[in-house]
Amino acid sequence: MRYGFFDDINREYVITQPDTPLPWMNYLGCENYFGLISNTAGGYSFYKDARLRRISRYRYNNTPLDTGGRYLYIRDNDAGKKGKISRPYWSPTWMPTRDTLDEYECRHGQGYTVIKSKAHKIESQIRYFVPLGENLEIWELTLTNHRKSAANLSVFSAIEFCLWDAQDDSTNYQRNLSTGQVEIADGVIYHKTEYRERRNHFAYFACSEKLDGYDTQRETFLGQYRGWDSPVVVEKGFSGESVAYGWQPIGSHHVKVQLNPGQQKKIIFLLGYQENPKDRKFDPPDSQTINKKKVKPIITRYLRPANVEDAFDALRLHWDNLLGRIQVTTPDEHTNRMVNIWNAYQCMMTFNLSRSASYFESGIGRGMGFRDSNQDLLGFVHMIPDRARERLLDLATTQLKSGGAFHQYQPLTKEGNNEVGSGFNDDPLWLILATSAYVKETGDWAILDELVRYENERGTETPLLEHLQRALQYTLERLGPHGLPLIGRADWNDCLNLNCFSDTPGQSFQTTMNKEGKVAESVMIAGLFILAAKEMFAIANYLEDEDQAKKLKKEIASMEAAVWKSGWDGAWFRRAYDDFGKVLGSKKNKEGKIFIEPQGICIMAGLGLRGGKAAKALESVSKHLATRHGIMLQQPAFSEYYLHLGEISSYPPGYKENAGIFCHTNPWIVIAETMLGRGDRAHDYYLRINPSNREEISGLHKCEPYVYSQMIAGRDAPTHGEAKNSWLTGTAAWNFVAITQSILGIKPTLEGLEISPCIPTSWTGFDAVRVFRGTRYEIQVVRIGKGNKISLVVEGKHIHGKVVPLPRKRTKSIFVKVTIR
Ligand code: BGC
Ligand code: NOJ
Repeated sequence: MRYGFFDDINREYVITQPDTPLPWMNYLGCENYFGLISNTAGGYSFYKDARLRRISRYRYNNTPLDTGGRYLYIRDNDAGKKGKISRPYWSPTWMPTRDTLDEYECRHGQGYTVIKSKAHKIESQIRYFVPLGENLEIWELTLTNHRKSAANLSVFSAIEFCLWDAQDDSTNYQRNLSTGQVEIADGVIYHKTEYRERRNHFAYFACSEKLDGYDTQRETFLGQYRGWDSPVVVEKGFSGESVAYGWQPIGSHHVKVQLNPGQQKKIIFLLGYQENPKDRKFDPPDSQTINKKKVKPIITRYLRPANVEDAFDALRLHWDNLLGRIQVTTPDEHTNRMVNIWNAYQCMMTFNLSRSASYFESGIGRGMGFRDSNQDLLGFVHMIPDRARERLLDLATTQLKSGGAFHQYQPLTKEGNNEVGSGFNDDPLWLILATSAYVKETGDWAILDELVRYENERGTETPLLEHLQRALQYTLERLGPHGLPLIGRADWNDCLNLNCFSDTPGQSFQTTMNKEGKVAESVMIAGLFILAAKEMFAIANYLEDEDQAKKLKKEIASMEAAVWKSGWDGAWFRRAYDDFGKVLGSKKNKEGKIFIEPQGICIMAGLGLRGGKAAKALESVSKHLATRHGIMLQQPAFSEYYLHLGEISSYPPGYKENAGIFCHTNPWIVIAETMLGRGDRAHDYYLRINPSNREEISGLHKCEPYVYSQMIAGRDAPTHGEAKNSWLTGTAAWNFVAITQSILGIKPTLEGLEISPCIPTSWTGFDAVRVFRGTRYEIQVVRIGKGNKISLVVEGKHIHGKVVPLPRKRTKSIFVKVTIR
């Protein structure tokens, strides 16, 4: 069952039915102003921080599903007279009135959404987007009259303002029902709650037409005890001219439109955010009236259709440039469209938002995760290296002197989040992987010499390289009884809380630690340590630091020894040791016998590649964990809550970390498979969770077919195959890495661009373009045999090895022909 189709040429997903199994959403904005928008115009907007600067309201977990958004209503002012339409108005975006539309189509593209529909022979198209460099969103409405007679219409807009702090807005009613304030001037509605006191920002909602009315008080517009599906003002056809004073400020314009047969009209609405200097908030200065000198020219500019068109073209060009840095043509359409369009786009969204605001993340709860942001970087560093650099330095600034890390930091302040604290012992190691990926991509070795603070404290600066060394040291100083790293509060698996022992309802699994943490160990962190230490070893070699290299070699060897001694179970890698010193992820366990994470990470770290152990572990994965919907996190699922295991056993079997298909980890297995040269299986696993490949089963999958979800229900769940938590997930970055670097094999290294594909045997080859350190690599891969033996010809010359030597500076493009036999 499909609800739409991919339009790859326009880089859009086209939804052809409004009642998708879940709202299928998109993001507007890619700098400071953001919006979430669903296929029926649901969602909200915010400036920089989804909690503290929420511009419009949205009620999560609402009924009907996805109520609240960027709504327009069309009213047929002759309907009553002619008696043709039972109800004289409808929503051109289907929600909120949910009237049957004769035609409906929603196109989600990169940073924009267009919803087109037709009802009663009136066609409407609304294009929503945020112009680059601006803190506003445009809703450009185009109406066309397909009737044989003139149409006498009214358009009503509607947005509900949020009183800025989304948390307070949805809890502190005793205050916030008495704070709301607006101004209406020259047809523009200004939302200025708290502007009278400490805020120096306001929102505005403007319209290109002369108004026939407006409303700013919610209940006047809707009518008492009515919802967005039947506003009394729209029903009656005239606005209440209400001026909000406390209660619930909204913005609604009313514009009457006369359209002759065939006539078309554009109406532009702008919703924006604006700051004024603190000492110039009011005009005149001794008044309470917003100073509009800065905002007015912006409003005027974007109410002109030609400027809107230019801004849209600029946005398209922006995405052409970003996505153009890797483009591939393979025999598989799902690979092509995910790599070329949607996976890269999703990586940019995780860069922007980490895990803060989606239809599953309320925008209130979480700051930027330390491990999340470091892993996200792997997926976007090739598109925006400069911003990746900045992000890395921000992250390192929140690192603790001990080498540990705050688990999260707040993007507005760039301070570590004290409430969540630290003690997730895998956290600091991801900084190494991210930094090394950045250096490989850019060749910017100078970043390692950047002086960076710890805990954002002045005077604590050391070179970034030392931050990385301290991250390794942090692990080495926290080894447990088996010489494996202590897990702390949890490792990558936030729900493996081996020191939590919580029996108090509501207590945070993440921050509660009832045990000292001196016993429970993680094999996964051991693998991650080896992986990270090998990156550091390569860096030390490059820098010709023999002492470091020697030291690292020893540390790697002793960690490897500990893994082989206590982390290998005979047919797979074990997962952990609990607080009683008992093994987890072993054939000895009744539940949780085998986990995916250590298989992926340990093999990625190079363990067992020779001697058959890696192959054995991957056979076990295939036998015990792989399903047709992806690879499950562990098996057997935990059937009850175990005090000594924590949140992992809190979920019903098959969901989330309790044996769900936790998509983030699947690409680790894909990468591991390619390390053993098994392209068929790697690509098969890749396809199982590839959303485009799952499009046909959208009825089951439920989430958007154009982006990865965090989770797909595992075999133990009654809804095996159903996805959840789409958009903001580390799955995006890791799948991008797995497909581009491991399967297609185009991999930045310290020495240059490596090209070593490990593709399915059935593929005859593929073509790719990769912009790397300023040069465009045009790559043609041809398979002439069934194996994985690679030979490279660069600009007509055969070269040894798999790494294309760096060309001379300012080389525009080079052609690489790859033969696989
Ligand atoms: C989720 C994890 C997540 C953690 C931290 C848990 O409830 O299951 O996936 O990492 O919360 O936010
Ligand atoms: C989601 C979190 O954002 C991430 O940090 C964690 O690694 C996974 N869940 C697994 O628990």
